Amino acid sequence: MKTIIEPFKIKSVEPIKFTTESEREEALKRAFYNPFLLRAEDVLIDLLTDSGTAAMSAEQWAGMMRGDESYAGARSFFRFESKVRELTGFAFVIPTHQGRAAERILFSLVGGKGKYIPNNSHFDTTRANVEFSGAEAVDLPTSEGNDPDLIADFKGNMDTKALESFILSVGRANIPLCMMTITNNSGGGQPVSMQNIRTTSDICRRHGIPLFLDACRFAENAYFIKKREPEYHAMPVKMIVQEMFSYADGATMSAKKDAIVNMGGFLALNDADLATRARNLSIVTEGFPTYGGLAGRDLEAIAQGLDEVLDDHYLQYRLRSIEYVGERLTAAGVPILQPPGGHAIYLNARKFLPHIPIHQYPGQALVVELFRVGGIRSVEIGSVMFGKYAPDGTLIPARMELVRLAIPRRVYTQSHMDYVIEVVVEVYRRREEIQGYRITEEAPMLRHFTAKFAPVS
Ligand SMILES: Cc1ncc(COP(=O)(O)O)c(C=O)c1O
Repeated sequence: MKTIIEPFKIKSVEPIKFTTESEREEALKRAFYNPFLLRAEDVLIDLLTDSGTAAMSAEQWAGMMRGDESYAGARSFFRFESKVRELTGFAFVIPTHQGRAAERILFSLVGGKGKYIPNNSHFDTTRANVEFSGAEAVDLPTSEGNDPDLIADFKGNMDTKALESFILSVGRANIPLCMMTITNNSGGGQPVSMQNIRTTSDICRRHGIPLFLDACRFAENAYFIKKREPEYHAMPVKMIVQEMFSYADGATMSAKKDAIVNMGGFLALNDADLATRARNLSIVTEGFPTYGGLAGRDLEAIAQGLDEVLDDHYLQYRLRSIEYVGERLTAAGVPILQPPGGHAIYLNARKFLPHIPIHQYPGQALVVELFRVGGIRSVEIGSVMFGKYAPDGTLIPARMELVRLAIPRRVYTQSHMDYVIEVVVEVYRRREEIQGYRITEEAPMLRHFTAKFAPVS
């Protein structure tokens, strides 16, 4: 059969609230035009993030009941640890309450002034944790990855030539580790090829630099490798995952993505000394190293989710449902980042709203309009999230002005996606009426979470 269906039945449902356009206008004003400040109950289809928004399976909920809540040495920890070891091969596994906690522990230990962390593209929290330590976060995407219209298989790749020259220019001693984000979230959810992971690993090993994977979406990345790198067509996804991790020395993980849970993460690594220091730091802020800020039941759900995410039917449905939205939007002429990524569709706001100058944040304007017209919550990934100010106060824009429609795992059906397509096409039809926004209040770091906006009139 050609039709790819959701590989599950629905056992429990949650109603969603329908609102009128004028109610949504009021909600937008109350939220200062920032989707993070909206009340979730006012949102019809929530595509703010795929992080921690998944529907857990019956087996995961059953695991929650089996969770061992002992303070130290809980059975649930050992199940979690052995699952992470089985997939990653890393010797030391430290649970954390989410991905950024693993990043904070790691970069507090290896970062600091004068240090550089190269990455294909840092995600916002990774960049913030690197910079908070005093180190510099350096993005080295390929030129393919910078071209939103180009259709290519692995636009998330690291520019390995640029990496090699970067290492030579700043010196190996100033690079405590190199990161690779799979899939590349800020680069459009684009995958990284096995060939690219291998080459990056070779370069790092030659220079004695540990390679860490930001592994949030490791299974989606592995499925892209299976589909797009011919020598992996017949290989089970689990083996592809194991090979990916074999080229690295450690990983940070937000389990809120490919472990299909609502909360959790981990730091996993091979360096015994660094692991000891990480555990000691975890005790100060996260908790004892066998629970690390999580309940035993969370560890059970993660262990189960790490198995379920490797199912071919699940991954095929997951990637196809995103590709489907991408195909339909492209057919309607809507500019999206091509090709569709693993967890989201990224609208190209610069092309969608060419009349709005970058310093009036076209991505933010589009986010507001999607909510106003259809109750869809999305997020700007552009100069609100990544823009910086020059010393004279002018905006240094981000690489791209994107709006991410992130699809939560196992939550929405095809008719929800058809509705999303209809709303985006309608907003595209009205695009010339949309105006820009200015920031009226902002925090010094990760400003997009709390910034307040006003329409430019
Ligand atoms: C690539 C990437 N790294 C790190 C994180 C941080 O994970 P968490 O939100 O669990 O702290 C995210 C979250 O969206 C992410 O997409």
